[in-house]
Amino acid sequence: MRRVYLDNNATTCLDSEVLEHMLPYMRESYGNPSSIHWLGDEATAAMTLARKELASVLGCYPSELAFTSGGTEADNMAIIGGMKASGRKGRVITSSVEHSAVLDVCHALHEEGHPLTVLPVDDGGLVDPEDLEKAMDDDVVLVSIMAANNVVGTIQPLKELIEISHAHGALFHTDAVQGFCRMPLDLRTLKVDMLSVSAHKIHGPKGVGALFIREGTPVAPLTFGGGQEGGIRPSTENVPGIVGLGKAALAAYARMDEANRLMASLRDRLVDEMLKIDDTHLNGHRSPRLANNAHFRIDGVNGTGLVLKLSDLGIAASTASACSASSPSPSHVLTAMGLTWDQAESSLRLGLSHHTTDEDVDYVLEKLPAAISTLRKGKRFNPTTA
Ligand SMILES: Cc1ncc(COP(=O)(O)O)c(C=O)c1O
Repeated sequence: MRRVYLDNNATTCLDSEVLEHMLPYMRESYGNPSSIHWLGDEATAAMTLARKELASVLGCYPSELAFTSGGTEADNMAIIGGMKASGRKGRVITSSVEHSAVLDVCHALHEEGHPLTVLPVDDGGLVDPEDLEKAMDDDVVLVSIMAANNVVGTIQPLKELIEISHAHGALFHTDAVQGFCRMPLDLRTLKVDMLSVSAHKIHGPKGVGALFIREGTPVAPLTFGGGQEGGIRPSTENVPGIVGLGKAALAAYARMDEANRLMASLRDRLVDEMLKIDDTHLNGHRSPRLANNAHFRIDGVNGTGLVLKLSDLGIAASTASACSASSPSPSHVLTAMGLTWDQAESSLRLGLSHHTTDEDVDYVLEKLPAAISTLRKGKRFNPTTA
């Protein structure tokens, strides 16, 4: 049976070249970067190079990067650390479609007494800068709005959102875990104060990411111990993972334009064909949207049932974010976009990568319509009540 992996918003395969670069740091060059002997020096040199590589892709100074255990930790460090450094119980602003690594952190701060504003989105998942303008006042310490959404791929108007936040003296953080190396993010012109990335979304290893902290941005550490990463993130560094992040970023950035062209054309074919199926809708705007994301509402079909059926056919897809897959309620992103509970449960996310081929798309388009009609028959689907 053919196997097609279309869950690239959840995670991506590790590039074999990236793995090759990592292996020596799991075998012979296993030193602790804090050690002052030759084996420690090898680890330090590898990390220094990876920091330079990531900085060159982002357009920042190497000293502005702190390596983390992934996107979740980077988001926590930015939001809690930024709020803590202000020394007051100021307001935090975020959007209703953030990943739980941001939204849950903001709610936790709210529990601790920080006022919280969660901005609404339109029916495509887009934040309106005017809503941010209306919500701003001098009490706001930090605004955190993602670069691109993990469920429907919507790309947010970061430039306007940053300008509004800065005009009111607030810090701006963006969760760029989905957007990194899938959309232009040049920190020389994009004036975010903090930005989170994760290696496993760009064909790097799992369990490693980074937080960009612009020079001079006040951020308090969340953990205490050694002085690693300038004291902002103490702990012995994940050297093989950090090496992998640097190499994965270089490779993903180099192929970004070509990969986006390829993925957009395959994605558009998937969307155009899927929309020919009765009572099937695209969730999220067609543009601005990540080239690798297609997300559908298929009325009368339970999304989880469809994902399981596709899995039996060798197709790996999802309904929404991997982190919410075990939750009994549908994706908060979809309900924030105005979908009813039922509509949000009738969803299918297809996430492409530069490895996705025409033949993969042919196979999916051959199997999906039959899978949908089988599930609809089982449910005696009536489009008028959908
Ligand atoms: C938008 C977004 N933010 C944060 C994360 C969490 O990143 P990590 O898995 O590296 O902790 C993810 C992963 O799904 C994501 O899609």
